[in-house]
Amino acid sequence: MKRLLFVWGACCALLLLACSPKQELKPIRSGEIWPDNQGVHVNAHGGCILYHEGTYYWYGENKSDTTSNAMVGIMCYSSKNLTDWTNEGVALPVEMTDTTSDIIQGCIMERPKVIYNERTRKFVMWFHLELKGQGYLAARSAVAESDTPTGPFRYIGSGRINPGKLPFDMTEEQRALLDTLNVEQYEWDTPAWKEAVVKGLFLKRDLEGGQMARDMQLFVDDDGKAYHIFASEENFTLHIAELSDDFLSHTGKYVRVAPSGSNEAPAIFKKADGTYWMITSGCTGWVPNEARMFSAPSIWGPWTQHPNPCVGPKAELTFGGQSTFVLPIPGKQDAFLFMADIWRPEHPSDARYIWLPIQFKADGTPVVEWMDSWTMEYFN
Ligand code: GAL
Repeated sequence: MKRLLFVWGACCALLLLACSPKQELKPIRSGEIWPDNQGVHVNAHGGCILYHEGTYYWYGENKSDTTSNAMVGIMCYSSKNLTDWTNEGVALPVEMTDTTSDIIQGCIMERPKVIYNERTRKFVMWFHLELKGQGYLAARSAVAESDTPTGPFRYIGSGRINPGKLPFDMTEEQRALLDTLNVEQYEWDTPAWKEAVVKGLFLKRDLEGGQMARDMQLFVDDDGKAYHIFASEENFTLHIAELSDDFLSHTGKYVRVAPSGSNEAPAIFKKADGTYWMITSGCTGWVPNEARMFSAPSIWGPWTQHPNPCVGPKAELTFGGQSTFVLPIPGKQDAFLFMADIWRPEHPSDARYIWLPIQFKADGTPVVEWMDSWTMEYFN
């Protein structure tokens, strides 16, 4: 009898389990307010997501209500499911008192990216830094490091990139051409000037002090090597530069991508077939423009341009947004989440987010199709 009762009990328990409703997945509605665990719109713009030991960490610019300058610093939020976000506070605060600090309150800190270094077991953050009161002139990259994903990160320093180094794939002829280029000799925006920009007019100008870097991305490849991808040369040309083993500096090995193509906001991902894909924007400041897309068989190129991957209403304006990151969905092959920002320069903290799954055409080309509402179930 006892045994019968036990079997009956076990059956009931199983039935209950089978019938209990699955936890509802929350819809992702791009462009709307996304409240965090305190009911406040997530304040992590131009950011990235790092998946580490079962948790997603979302880093981004804290934007205030009235200015796009950094008044607080870089934020961190955590989540187990990509829809419920806990505010973990400021991962890298601005400096409040020491006016000699690069990151004194009022500077510009943009597009922070965080990667994990398996060798050093440190979390490394790079971001675009502009010095206080200098507009966008400095075009520096800054680096910080932490033992834990939520920080606080230790600010290490900032500067231009790869001083004294030329792209490793530049031929002898291309190097010789540089000698003929002189910024003073050209009138901005003329055909001759444009040709000179392609040849490396600004590359040469900045050779000694290091290359400019504004909008930027980090990418860790399957072999553990990390790369820094950034809009350089007055935002005309992208650079892809290798980071040192500790991810804290550059090795000096880099290539130029799409010279004079005016690409910003690079977001890069790699498919299982080994193809690298990169979605970028044009250069129109906070105003949205048409996304661009490139692919390459190696991180070093050659990079081939493809048509705009966006499909749907306002596809020619990236749905009103600008690319910021592509998150590979952990544990799934060729599953990627495209992330973009809808900027609100008059009310920066009210900037919104666009998250859409990346789809693939039969020939393997990525497509980003607008969806008013979707859930993470999409990736199952
Ligand atoms: C955008 C860039 C943003 C920010 C803005 C300033 O093109 O992607 O990160 O720098 O310009 O106007």
